Amino acid sequence: MNVTHLECGLCGLEHEARQLHNLCRNCGKPLLVRYDLNRSKTTLTKESLASRRADMWRYREVLPVESDSNIVSLGEGWTPLLRAKKLGKVVGIHEVYIKDESQNPTQSFKARGMATAVSMAKELGAKKLAVPSAGNAAGALAAYAARAGLKSFIFMPRDTPRANVVECEQTGAEVTLMDGLITDCGAEVARRKDAARWFDVSTLKEPYRVEGKKTLGYELAEQMSWELPDVIIYPTGGGTGLIGMWKAFAEMEEMGWIGSRRPRMVTVQAAGCAPIVRAFEQGHRFADEFPNAATTASGLRVPKAIGDFLILDALRQSGGTAVAVTDEELIAATREIGAAEGIFCAPEGAACLPALRILVEDGLVSTSDRVVLFNTGAGVKYIESFTAELAESAD
Ligand SMILES: Cc1ncc(COP(=O)(O)O)c(C=O)c1O
Ligand SMILES: [Zn+2]
Repeated sequence: MNVTHLECGLCGLEHEARQLHNLCRNCGKPLLVRYDLNRSKTTLTKESLASRRADMWRYREVLPVESDSNIVSLGEGWTPLLRAKKLGKVVGIHEVYIKDESQNPTQSFKARGMATAVSMAKELGAKKLAVPSAGNAAGALAAYAARAGLKSFIFMPRDTPRANVVECEQTGAEVTLMDGLITDCGAEVARRKDAARWFDVSTLKEPYRVEGKKTLGYELAEQMSWELPDVIIYPTGGGTGLIGMWKAFAEMEEMGWIGSRRPRMVTVQAAGCAPIVRAFEQGHRFADEFPNAATTASGLRVPKAIGDFLILDALRQSGGTAVAVTDEELIAATREIGAAEGIFCAPEGAACLPALRILVEDGLVSTSDRVVLFNTGAGVKYIESFTAELAESAD
């Protein structure tokens, strides 16, 4: 209702709203949704939020669905921002918070993006939705498609955590397991989608997942009383959440909700698959495909991200950085966070802790900085990662 058009994130070409789109028809890069924010802010005010629903649809006027009847919801968003006092003490930072996205439907932050993508697919008349996924996006698509009465077709690497495969099967998706990586799954969707009449909802290949993910930025601001943190550490695969938060900050500034100060945005990736870290260090705007990608944090096993330049632009414009941590470090961190704070993180989310340690050591984060770590999913979905570790330590 407040959407004016879609705009290419690279070349700026405008595309018509209210039509199904994938990538920019000029340059093949991701499209971003633009709003008449002057209109949005007439009813969406900070004061109005106090009495609104406790999910991400509280920011209704900056979300793309036109008719309320098309909203497909399972209660996503408005997750807690938890102070992590003990961890803060251990790393020497006074204020550390964990945004706990494991408390979403389907136990990950992917629920936010799929709620908007599926709602828009329903509104614009798509019937069959296809996605390549590292696991959590698949579980979320399957659930939201089921709720919307749409069919979902899911392609995952054969070694995706078992829980992700089972949840998709139990929520009515058609699941194909493939030898290879998420990029191979994406190529398979691209090859078959026209003949099969699938709408491709791959990360950033459709414009609306990022709109759901951007509510992370709105929530963070609201939960921190409109004073953004100094540092955000985000486990980055395709980068939707980071790109979404960066977009949310710009929208909030345009509506006069926040000033021009931004958190330093930090990408954390696994050492075995760190294309963004490498591109950041080399000063490149686009990231080369990372060879032989391997990590137990399956959501970080994304060797090539189509939104690479949007991630890298945000890191640089914010004065942030990109760091890689080893699988040993992120698995150890899962237990450390669990034991200290009672939050059983996904290994991707746990990676934020060793990343923070590196930043402190390098003098990039100081004691008085307010730091937010993103726990993007639930540890229980990764039993294989932890039981393998237990088996090894018993040897
Ligand atoms: C738990 C978890 N964390 C992080 C990511 C990476 O997310 P993004 O694609 O937004 O960078 C994923 C993606 O699959 C994930 O499942
Ligand atoms: Zn373009």
